[in-house]
Amino acid sequence: MYYFRGIIPVVMDKKQQMENIVGLAKRRGFIYPGSDIYGGLSGTWDFGPLGVQLKRNIMKLWWEMFVDQRDDMYGIDAAILMNQKVWQASGHVDTFTDPLVEDLETKQRFRADHLLKDAGHSVDGLSLEQMTQLIRDNDVKSPAGNDLSEVRTFNMMFKTTVGPVADDTSISYLRPETAQGIFTNYKNVLDSFYPDLPFGLAQQGKAFRNEISPRDFIFRSREFEQMEIEYFVNPTAWEESFEHWRQQVWKWTQALGLPDDMVHELEVPENDRAHYSKRTIDFEFDFPIGREELLGLAYRTDFDLQNIQRVSGKNMDYTVKGTNEKFVPHVIEPSFGVERALMAVLTAAYTEDEVNGETRTFLKLPEHLAPVRFAVSPLVRNKPELVAKAREVYAILKKKYGAVMWDDNGNIGKRYRRQDEIGTPYCVVIDFDTLETDGLVSIRSRDTTEQIRVDVNSL
Ligand code: GAP
Repeated sequence: MYYFRGIIPVVMDKKQQMENIVGLAKRRGFIYPGSDIYGGLSGTWDFGPLGVQLKRNIMKLWWEMFVDQRDDMYGIDAAILMNQKVWQASGHVDTFTDPLVEDLETKQRFRADHLLKDAGHSVDGLSLEQMTQLIRDNDVKSPAGNDLSEVRTFNMMFKTTVGPVADDTSISYLRPETAQGIFTNYKNVLDSFYPDLPFGLAQQGKAFRNEISPRDFIFRSREFEQMEIEYFVNPTAWEESFEHWRQQVWKWTQALGLPDDMVHELEVPENDRAHYSKRTIDFEFDFPIGREELLGLAYRTDFDLQNIQRVSGKNMDYTVKGTNEKFVPHVIEPSFGVERALMAVLTAAYTEDEVNGETRTFLKLPEHLAPVRFAVSPLVRNKPELVAKAREVYAILKKKYGAVMWDDNGNIGKRYRRQDEIGTPYCVVIDFDTLETDGLVSIRSRDTTEQIRVDVNSL
């Protein structure tokens, strides 16, 4: 492997890497624990100025790739609160559950499958009774070392009531997936746009799950963001579309800058698939916490549209143009989690190396995702003519790119380290040569630490 002159990469242990990423995210204004000032609220996270920019860049990239640059996709933005019939028809009221066990001493609650996996047991396809038996047979304890209750189901939807009267008719839920807002609008879009099959509806937005044990930074949160596509197809052509989206997912992970060898496909066995799926591939990523699900690709058949048709009494048929052929379309669903994408991006980008004997931390973010594209500074801040010229350059870049930071704090070495840590690809410095000799600015690369002199208009 070729390393840039004077730069030696530092190899880190995974646990250390995770702690370093969480620390950097908080210290440098990417991600803060939610409600931190009041002692926090488990499973919630707040995005700071750099985090929100990174998150928006990821979501913008997705929208460009999967909506703007295609002519078979329609974007929508549905309400989060929906009629409770949506969640009854979709099966979420009855089946959107995780297996729960309780520590019999402390009354703390845990995911039974997580405790069993942590104790080295496979839980694939096990019923609640079988999990209870496995716990008993192997004397699996809670993290505090106490006996555990029987395993039972726990519904993960947050329940609320809508309007001034709280009774059974006013029950609603914070949506646990954005998908249902798409299915309930399928007919609206069909009637407004008459699209040809196959076509897709795409939505980005918040989803909420009352996870029994949120953990691993933003990986498993109670409030998170999804980017989902429901792609409506002729049932005879589902395999072709499934393959198409499988390739698109790889294009997506590459656009995020994730190395191919850190992304893995897992063909989910029947027993482990969601109640609506006839085929699912989980795309997993080598997070510092281990290989875990990054996003999912599922063949949802006509499960959702048939349920809507049955419960609402409205016809969900698609009529093939110019014919009398009618059918309820089937659906391929690529479902992306924003926080997991962001955590994968941070994992792939987080780097420590040694530059000329000094350890440096930097985020090797792809340029199109970096929250700050350029940092601009005068070499020193007490020379008004340098500052004036630097401000001029800053204004030009700011107008062109928006995500440009003015940074004149501390000496130039400190500024470079600070910008490296937040992943700024380029630092532009205005020095005496700019004013007196060549009119060029110095531009320093985050990845190589090398500097070249360029005309500002060529940036
Ligand atoms: N509509 C299908 C669906 O929601 P899912 O596998 O339950 O499928 C899709 O969720 C994606 O949403 C996951 O692959 C993950 O990226 C993200 N996700 C799910 N639960 C999450 C949580 N508690 N915290 C953060 N992201 C989550």
